[in-house]
Amino acid sequence: MNARPESPDQLEHLRSLEQEARREISETDAPQALVEVRARYLGRKGSVSDLLRSLGGLEPTERARMGKAANEAKARIEEWVRQRRTEIDQEQREHALSGRCQDVTLPGVPFVRGRLHPVTRVVREVVEFFVSMGFTLEEGPEVETDYNNFEALNFPPDHPARDMQDTFFVEGGHVLRTHTSPVQIRAMTGRQPPFRFIAIGRVYRHDLSPRHSPMFQQVEGFMVDEHTTFADLKGVLYAFAEHMMGSGTDLRFRSSYFPFTEPSAELDFQCVLCKGQGCATCSQSGWIEWGGCGMIHPQVLENCGIDAARYQGFAFGMGLERSAMNRHSIPHIRLLYDGDVRVLEQL
Ligand code: DAH
Repeated sequence: MNARPESPDQLEHLRSLEQEARREISETDAPQALVEVRARYLGRKGSVSDLLRSLGGLEPTERARMGKAANEAKARIEEWVRQRRTEIDQEQREHALSGRCQDVTLPGVPFVRGRLHPVTRVVREVVEFFVSMGFTLEEGPEVETDYNNFEALNFPPDHPARDMQDTFFVEGGHVLRTHTSPVQIRAMTGRQPPFRFIAIGRVYRHDLSPRHSPMFQQVEGFMVDEHTTFADLKGVLYAFAEHMMGSGTDLRFRSSYFPFTEPSAELDFQCVLCKGQGCATCSQSGWIEWGGCGMIHPQVLENCGIDAARYQGFAFGMGLERSAMNRHSIPHIRLLYDGDVRVLEQL
């Protein structure tokens, strides 16, 4: 055996530091505490680093031996820290998993099945139908300019037809759109026919009754080409009624007035419940109001920069809640918006 180096004190000090480090590391049970323990021994101001610095005064051979011993001790401490870190991670993972899913044979937690809102279902069916007919979707904002909502649609300021749409005004001269017809203006301005568009969205009117709510949804449809006629309007709407209400649904066109169509019609479908015989739902008339329609007024086309001598088209607009209410015999439109899940559960 070699003679012991002449610095038993320092070597002993090193060994005891090493023991102490080992014990502290093994007692640590959190990653942050481990970082702190490591710093206390190996950090720039740590005790092993201090010891290494104090070797400067030793004689060269002895300094070399002590230096080697200290570096080996450092490597061991480093390794214990690494091992402990792996153990702590493992312990934490096990702790997080314990208490969960122990018995995989237990029956599962029943899955609560959601349902689509009846108006959402109607919206999807409407889109499905018109997309199949080659229409594409257009959008517009709910806060609209007076120009798009009224003026470009041929409602001059103070025109009495504005009274049909009790309007919410917004600061800055804008309105909450009272119908989806302004999307016609947005979609047609700056483009040239042929067009086949639909627009779906919320509209607002100061209106409250079992069948009216201050917010409701409409679908607007319009088609413009060189030879589009009222017969095309009827063909599309008959097919639409069949898609929504089943084959053989009869429609009725009553002449009406809208500033943006000429001629204009109000559209009714035969009451689905009584097949036209008359019942409480249709107020004994056999018919239920569906929406408005007509041939787009030439002035509206001109307002959008379209040559009305060359092009003509039809348009229609209807409320979507109506369809959902008829389908499920929902007596009050507010039931659709109260957020009471019992309404959805029974459908
Ligand atoms: N915008 C009308 C309303 O909300 C409905 C309507 C009527 C839309 C005739 C049309 C139309 O496109 O041609 O009262």
